[in-house]
Amino acid sequence: MLCFRRGTRRQKQAKCLCITLGIVITLLLYIYVKYIPEVQFVYLNRHNKEPCVIPNIDPFDPSILKFVSHPDPIVCEKNPEFSFINESGYLHINHTTSQQFGLQTLHCSYSTVNRKGDFDIEYSEEVTFDSPLYIPSDIVRVRCNDEKDRLIYDHIHIHVDYKTVLKNRNLKDESSDQLSVHIFGLDSVSRLNAERKLMKTMKYIREELQGYVFEGHTKVGENTYPCIVPMLMNRKAYSKEMEKEIHVWKTLDNYPFLWRNFSDAGYVTYFSEDSPQMSAFMGFDKPPCDHYIRPFFLALRKIRSYKVHDIFLFLEAQRIKLTKSSTMCYGNKAKQQLVIEYLQRLVSVYRNKRTFVMSWLNELTHDHLNFLELADEDILSHFKWLKASGKLEKTVLILMSDHGLRVNAIRNTMIGRIEDRMPLFAIALPEQLTKRYPHLHDNMATNTKRLTTSWDAYFTLMDILNGNYQVQSKIGKEESLPRGISLFREIPKRRTCFEADIQEHYCPCYTSKTIPTNDSRVSAISTYLVNRLNYDLRIFKEKCALLTIENVESASIVHADFQRAEEKEEFSYKKWLFSPQKSTSTRILLVFRTAPSHGLFEATVSYSERNIKVLGDITRINMYGNQSSCIDHKTLRTSCYCK
Ligand SMILES: *[C@@H]1O[C@H](CO)[C@@H](O)[C@H](O)[C@H]1NC(C)=O
Ligand SMILES: *[C@@H]1O[C@H](CO)[C@@H](O)[C@H](O)[C@H]1NC(C)=O
Ligand SMILES: *[C@@H]1O[C@H](CO)[C@@H](O)[C@H](O)[C@H]1NC(C)=O
Ligand SMILES: *[C@@H]1O[C@H](CO)[C@@H](O)[C@H](O)[C@H]1NC(C)=O
Ligand SMILES: *[C@@H]1O[C@H](CO)[C@@H](O)[C@H](O)[C@H]1NC(C)=O
Repeated sequence: MLCFRRGTRRQKQAKCLCITLGIVITLLLYIYVKYIPEVQFVYLNRHNKEPCVIPNIDPFDPSILKFVSHPDPIVCEKNPEFSFINESGYLHINHTTSQQFGLQTLHCSYSTVNRKGDFDIEYSEEVTFDSPLYIPSDIVRVRCNDEKDRLIYDHIHIHVDYKTVLKNRNLKDESSDQLSVHIFGLDSVSRLNAERKLMKTMKYIREELQGYVFEGHTKVGENTYPCIVPMLMNRKAYSKEMEKEIHVWKTLDNYPFLWRNFSDAGYVTYFSEDSPQMSAFMGFDKPPCDHYIRPFFLALRKIRSYKVHDIFLFLEAQRIKLTKSSTMCYGNKAKQQLVIEYLQRLVSVYRNKRTFVMSWLNELTHDHLNFLELADEDILSHFKWLKASGKLEKTVLILMSDHGLRVNAIRNTMIGRIEDRMPLFAIALPEQLTKRYPHLHDNMATNTKRLTTSWDAYFTLMDILNGNYQVQSKIGKEESLPRGISLFREIPKRRTCFEADIQEHYCPCYTSKTIPTNDSRVSAISTYLVNRLNYDLRIFKEKCALLTIENVESASIVHADFQRAEEKEEFSYKKWLFSPQKSTSTRILLVFRTAPSHGLFEATVSYSERNIKVLGDITRINMYGNQSSCIDHKTLRTSCYCK
């Protein structure tokens, strides 16, 4: 619209004005976003030495829904692709495309994209080619000229250069106990945001992959680096020891990243983050893994600089598009699709070789709450593909994040505060493994309701590395807890933030204060809960007995005792305009028994005189044996008592 070439003087003036206005508005927006910081209220949890009560929060709470919207789908331009790399890694010119465009002759050449350290790239000398050939590099640029020698095509491919790896490495096969690891990471995604924005994927993990979604998973540092360092190297970020080493080494090469252990055990390794300027781990002199596609993303930044890209992305979140193709595309595809295709290639070419994958996507989710849903379908089909390929029979699949969204407007709500602290963490184990080691299932299922961290993830991965699936000793009642506990072991309910090395700054736990069971609120709540159970069971009215309350075992008020630490807050002009949100309702946790089943249930409700609302599920906490054998239903069988 801004670019008409010819026109009257008036049109030209209008055009000038338009462009100037456009530039000014964009600049102002940019300045606004970048340079006036949001207020960030700082809270400390004064009860970090008390047993953690995992906050039970409704992902669709109204206070957070006002930040939730549905972005436009990603639409990528449809440019002709004159080259492709086939499944065995051979670069081809696509003659079908050139014929379609009536191009008689097409002169193509390729160059490899080479690292210059971790922050720059260079292209090798261009080599013309015509017939298919294998190029020993993960990243290949192809440029083609038409008969008049005009450049008509410039494209960067990523491909799995397996031939070079197979030549240099001695890879071993997977087995039922020596499993591959496939970590699919998304930056800044709380568990709750995953429930809102990855609905299909989460359902698939729970129902089809029988995966475990850790509801008490808590971050141990502010941003990605300190949150993930414990998982990747069993180290504490910014500890004296690490700072000293950084000072001496000036490179990340020497750090004990756990993919090195996997590599030593005959695994082919992959690590990459998609957004080179906001990567948590950069500064490797040598590539950290066998496959490392950071240079690809660096090359993209040469095409469109980071700042411009950032503005485009911001505007797109406001539904303003300056280009036909979405900012999240490269060529004809969304970037997450490119990464996923790459991972699938990797799985295909190495077939049953041991594989360690740590893929991390930043761009989609780092600053935006809502874009994530645009990847739901892609991630779902990736997981379905993995399952269909048979890979998951010998692979542990992990879908995870580092922390929740750190946009302050959201973090200043009660729920946002907790979401920030509680990242997504889900694991699916091969079915054959849980069949052979049923205690793994029991412990993992229990641990989904316990306080867990990135340190635990490290010990879990170490167990996988060492094929250690035997029953581990149960942690005693009095025993002091280690900082990290493998998720294959039962994590005690009594674990505190302090024991898990979660600072009071990040501790999301509620504390509970017992109230007498004859408290007037308790009977109202127990009646409400049992009615709710009966209501859910109404479809099996013929088969299941009507439940009544046998007794209330215990009741407690749970609350988050976050106290504001104003002295730790940074100055912002916006502080004059906003104040933090306060909580209004009381949360009460009830453990009660139903008749005739003697079923023991636990539930947390938000209670006010006018309204009772169940937070999360009503969970059966004793065995139900074959009480419900007359029905076949995933969730209701925990409450049905067959007549
Ligand atoms: C890829 O291309 C090469 C060279 O044309 C060919 O030998 C090979 O069979 C192709 N692989 C597949 C999977 O089509
Ligand atoms: C070659 O181009 C045609 C037409 O553009 C397309 O349909 C086809 O998928 C391309 N082939 C490959 C292997 O990418
Ligand atoms: C992993 O490798 C590091 C060296 O990089 C070594 O110090 C450590 O003991 C290894 N851990 C395991 C569990 O093998
Ligand atoms: C609740 O029960 C205790 C004894 O268990 C009793 O002392 C107290 O008065 C009761 N409170 C009410 C409100 O009934
Ligand atoms: C189910 O429960 C009944 C009654 O307790 C018992 O006799 C029966 O053996 C149980 N059946 C199974 C399959 O456990």
